[in-house]
Amino acid sequence: MASKKRNVIVGQSGGPTSVINSSLAGVYKNAIERGFDKVYGMLHGVQGLLDEQYVDMSTQIHSDLDIELLKRTPSAFLGSCRYKLPEIHENMEIYDRIFEILDKLEIDSFIYIGGNDSMDTIRKLSDYAIVKGHKQKFLGVPKTIDNDLALTDHTPGFGSAAKYIAASTKEVIRDALGLTYKKEMITVMEIMGRNAGWLTGAAALAKTEECEGPDLIYLPEIAFDVDDFLAKVKELLQKKSSIVIAVSEGIKLADGRYVCELSGGGDYVDAFGHKQLQGTAAYLAGFLGAEIGCKTRSVEFSTLQRSASHMASRVDIEEAFMVGGAAVKAADEGYNGNMVVIDRVSDDPYMSSAGIYDVHRIANEEKLVPREWVNKEGNYVTKDFIDYVKPLIQGDYQPIMVNGLPRHLVLDMKKK
Ligand code: F6P
Repeated sequence: MASKKRNVIVGQSGGPTSVINSSLAGVYKNAIERGFDKVYGMLHGVQGLLDEQYVDMSTQIHSDLDIELLKRTPSAFLGSCRYKLPEIHENMEIYDRIFEILDKLEIDSFIYIGGNDSMDTIRKLSDYAIVKGHKQKFLGVPKTIDNDLALTDHTPGFGSAAKYIAASTKEVIRDALGLTYKKEMITVMEIMGRNAGWLTGAAALAKTEECEGPDLIYLPEIAFDVDDFLAKVKELLQKKSSIVIAVSEGIKLADGRYVCELSGGGDYVDAFGHKQLQGTAAYLAGFLGAEIGCKTRSVEFSTLQRSASHMASRVDIEEAFMVGGAAVKAADEGYNGNMVVIDRVSDDPYMSSAGIYDVHRIANEEKLVPREWVNKEGNYVTKDFIDYVKPLIQGDYQPIMVNGLPRHLVLDMKKK
């Protein structure tokens, strides 16, 4: 009988998405099919691992139905973290501690599902392994609703969040239109994405046969001018009574201040130096209300946009699963210090495949919306942008409904 391979450990890190667990399911299924002995899950990423917090995934997943439930479960099943490893020369003990735990668990492959900050962890650990002659392999699986990872056509999580944003924007527009008989109303919607406007731009997909879509879209890539904004809204109000505006949480003034900071937001800063961006729409709705004197409303999609698994895109869930499996395959074939990417093979019919890149070219980089995909005035996205996003929101992945609500798979610590 062939001897069993050593073990895999997988972790989730950074802001969750509605399909991050589909990648986890892909890692698990592929690792078992490839003959790895155990698949461990780090609880709260590398931060939890340092406290020896992990779970044997076979205590959590018992059947194909559990795999299907996991694929449909939003947020990080294993718990996430925003933990920045020190540079290797700054604190070798942390690295020694991690490798001690990996050796104890007989780990062959370390798989981390995350965004650009999480790829920094893969970069450092794989560098350390090479320098110190450790045998473990470190592979990254892309994940983020922000879609800001370099070298991959797009990131798992983005398509589903974009689908939710586009669908919700249609609903917000309908709601507002029904309220504006002989009176004006301005609705400002705030969309996540930090410094990249991919998700905010996806609000443009709400423009369909029966819906005119949002009136204005402001991305963080373009400096925001409050006076131009006010003038544009006033001009639109001459022609229509309901105005719906999509703004990124991360829009900034020309002097670099976030708009949300004008109302006191952005105080909390995480380990990677990112400010918590919140309150942009509320600030702008208040500002327009005071300047124009009409009814205004702010809608903050907040965590809903990254956890709405009932609205997930089939393309997204399937690709998330694919990249999880591809990372295990790559590790099994001897790759180290790489991230799996999604290559777009064709638009119509839409097809993609998994590729692989050196994580040093991805960690800490931010892929922004190109200037030519935003109109000249800087207040809408172009057809090229829409054509790029449209295939990624296609298809449904029906939740498994129990008593009228989606059923999720949740970590059972008693079985740990
Ligand atoms: O990185 C993904 C993301 O969802 C960003 O869009 C957002 O700015 C950030 O996470 C919010 O992070 P947190 O939930 O930790 O405040």
